Amino acid sequence: MREIAVINGPNLNLLGTREPEIYGSESLQDINQALTTLATELDLQVRFMQSNAEHEIVEYIHRCHHEQISGIIINPAAFTHTSVAIRDALLGTQIPFIEVHLSNIHAREPFRAKSWLSDVAIGTITGLGSQGYAMALRYWAD
Ligand code: DQA
Repeated sequence: MREIAVINGPNLNLLGTREPEIYGSESLQDINQALTTLATELDLQVRFMQSNAEHEIVEYIHRCHHEQISGIIINPAAFTHTSVAIRDALLGTQIPFIEVHLSNIHAREPFRAKSWLSDVAIGTITGLGSQGYAMALRYWAD
């Protein structure tokens, strides 16, 4: 069975209480629980990781490579706009990935419009709230 890793970056552990008018009222646990249910329906395995530390995300991507994960769904959060290291980890391991954002990064402050990942992602889903993760998971099922 194909296994997909869902990676969430800094401050997404605060979902539910963090700026709910922007990020919604679901917690990360709620979102991951819904994805686990969906994965079962789609006949996929799914694993989850959240970290506030860039190096932990880089090391986790390396681990995904060693453990032959088929694909990654990543919301790099603020690292989207800064992290050459996460870009290089994804390029270096050649794991295909989808970039997800809860909010529309193109409709906010100008600094959020720049992503270091979008041009090397399979695709990007931005602004559709937690549904974006589910859509990305469905992509892997097809
Ligand atoms: C985010 C958008 C980023 O700009 C922000 O830093 C986040 C969350 C989103 O999901 O909308 O932490 O990735």
